[in-house]
Amino acid sequence: MTEHVRKKIQEISQGQDGFTVGWCDGGVSHFHFIWLRHQCECGECGSSLNGVRGLRLDLIPERPKPREYSFDPDRLRVSWEEDGHISTYEAKWLRDHCYSAEARAQRKHRPVLWDKRIAADPPTFKFSEVEDSASSRLQMLETVCDYGFCKVEGAPGLADEAGRLIQMVGAKRITHYGDFELSNKRMSNTSADMATLTDKKSINNVGDIRQALQPHCDETYRTSTIGITIFQVFEPSAEGGHSTLVDGFEAARRFREIYPEDFNRLASTPLTGQRFDPKHAEGELPRWYRCTLPMIRIDDDQDVCGIRVNERQIAPIDLPHDQVVPTYQAIRNFLKIVYDPDLIISFPLKKGDGLIFNNQRVLHGRTAFKLEERGRQVLTNSVDLEDFYSNLRILKGRLKPQEPIQAYSQGMVT
Ligand SMILES: [Fe+2]
Ligand SMILES: [Zn+2]
Repeated sequence: MTEHVRKKIQEISQGQDGFTVGWCDGGVSHFHFIWLRHQCECGECGSSLNGVRGLRLDLIPERPKPREYSFDPDRLRVSWEEDGHISTYEAKWLRDHCYSAEARAQRKHRPVLWDKRIAADPPTFKFSEVEDSASSRLQMLETVCDYGFCKVEGAPGLADEAGRLIQMVGAKRITHYGDFELSNKRMSNTSADMATLTDKKSINNVGDIRQALQPHCDETYRTSTIGITIFQVFEPSAEGGHSTLVDGFEAARRFREIYPEDFNRLASTPLTGQRFDPKHAEGELPRWYRCTLPMIRIDDDQDVCGIRVNERQIAPIDLPHDQVVPTYQAIRNFLKIVYDPDLIISFPLKKGDGLIFNNQRVLHGRTAFKLEERGRQVLTNSVDLEDFYSNLRILKGRLKPQEPIQAYSQGMVT
């Protein structure tokens, strides 16, 4: 069955509250009259794509009825009873927006879960190919969407070129850690701009110390959680300092299977993550961020769509008395799975290596490393999930125009 046939109308029948469309591939869709009337995209009604809409729901009938309708394989035309308003719907558009249970399930993006076995062949791209070819770039973005991460080899090893990788992922996010200005001078001299992992005298950020870090999500204290993180290695550590990754969705799947009650507790119990920065930058206000969300986010279909685990940032637990001990128990059981070596992959990052991962799904950490003369230098940037998906939609729309819009996981925001 070709894609072509899938989007051709074979027959349409009018029911009490909507039209039933029979498609040339045998599929069936039902569209309510109110849905169709609301979705009219004529010049008068406008479009939800740009939000310029003349149509007002409170000014159209609660139960619009068609006066008459006609169709051919490529479109449906309806004139509405009340005012004779005429709406035309392209067949492809209708099929792409069919809201049957089957069609909605098909449009929903399904992550590919993984454990330590992915280490044999982790998703890896070459920077030059991704930069030169839009289809490689799309493949890279789709891989991050499917697996939650990918490695990029041969990424710019110089600060002033770092933006070339970031902009392929999406618009860069700037937090209170600062705008990572792409000048060598600022980059190499300012610790706020560059995570220079040497042995600092006073430690206010674990990224600056050499001990091993358990897999975690970054910045769980933000209400707008960090989305896609991009590491770029300018100077690797000579010994140790391997990066570790864990698929938080696979950890949650195992957790749900082994400890269903604890899973439900962590999916429904709000926990506060916090960070106090008394003076994070010269001449700026101190910061004290707090955000209260569950550790595991499930969507309306009960699928896991977001993970927010960082035990170092959990603020004093503030819950009803009888929930405190069971919540600790649930967190401990989840962490046992998150830190299980069966889930962790570990690999060295070389100069010029990039690592892109979804911070609302994949946890990252690193093994301990030695103090060296030239400090390990890893540049960290992020792109919000909304900008990552925006980039993905635009590129996909250009290269795969036949595919309907997919429903991607919204992470910690459901
Ligand atoms: Fe981190
Ligand atoms: Zn209209």
